Amino acid sequence: MSFRAIEWLQETNTLRLIDQKRLPEEIRYLDLTTPASVADAIRDMTVRGAPAIGVAAAFGILQSAQSNATESLELLKQDLTEADRVLRASRPTAVNLFWALDRMKGVWQAAGNAEELRLALRAEATAIEAQDVAVNRAISEHALKILPQEVTFFHHCNTGSLATVELGTALGVIRSAHESGRKVMAYLDETRPRLQGAKLSSFELMQFGVPHAIVVDGASAHIMRTQKVDLAIVGCDRVAANGDTANKIGTYNLALAAQDNGVPFYVAAPMSTIDFDTVSGDDIEIEERDASEITEINGIAIAPEGAPTFNPAFDVTPNRLIAGIITEHGIARAPFAESLMRLRDRNS
Ligand code: MRU
Repeated sequence: MSFRAIEWLQETNTLRLIDQKRLPEEIRYLDLTTPASVADAIRDMTVRGAPAIGVAAAFGILQSAQSNATESLELLKQDLTEADRVLRASRPTAVNLFWALDRMKGVWQAAGNAEELRLALRAEATAIEAQDVAVNRAISEHALKILPQEVTFFHHCNTGSLATVELGTALGVIRSAHESGRKVMAYLDETRPRLQGAKLSSFELMQFGVPHAIVVDGASAHIMRTQKVDLAIVGCDRVAANGDTANKIGTYNLALAAQDNGVPFYVAAPMSTIDFDTVSGDDIEIEERDASEITEINGIAIAPEGAPTFNPAFDVTPNRLIAGIITEHGIARAPFAESLMRLRDRNS
């Protein structure tokens, strides 16, 4: 079975999303028709994963332009400014959200009239969507060059089709390795508190018949010490210019466990996730989410009522723990400040 977490329906100006909060129990699609509803879907994690958030936001901007029939460029730009503001406020850490909104903003700020603006925004949103598909495939191609014939992965969170438009980044590499005929095994940590590994990554790998095992987050060091693990591979929400990488909470622990066990730790990252304006990981804003993500599972309390919590949704893995950052332009290695810039400049 193949599925798309995000689909644009031009005829009805609708963004169709799989409601990821309900997976794996139920595959339910939501049809959204306003930028405010797209922002809500990003905030409540109906749609999640850095690349998917960026693509959803781009279509939210397009919706705003297409739902207003005015010929006044001024009025249209007022609406777009408001849609842009609402979408930007939805989640802070994934730079892809701001990257996609900046691209859309560049287009509407340059447009000469209302009709030209709508057409140009439509072209840009669909280009951002198509670029994500191509970039993910290229990441997998570069990763395959360094993978042995028999390969065991350790993976965190969900970075597959659900987190992107089609293949995915880190989970896409795992799926591509399987489809290339390699003998693949993947340990998927469950990824507390929202369980994207157990709920979403396992759901995806089961669709594609990829051998895997869900393990609890606390098992990573033990598994790396006692089982054959060739590499850990994760996605990311923002990579600073020096290679420090923000990703789902627990990534840093995994990188430390990998380091102590001699397991290379790789990050799969579209160039759009590399934020050259952010000097180091210390400058990345870390989202904090609601206490209920910790105190409840599927709406059932697992902690005393009113128990205090602290719920950072992401952490920063220092660049010294990263063996390589696999992008669509090739694999960057330490020192990352130079290698990432080289990949960007060689391909711009
Ligand atoms: O909070 P989430 O589920 O949006 O976090 C997702 C991750 O941390 C992913 O690893 C990251 O966005 C990369 S997805 C290709």
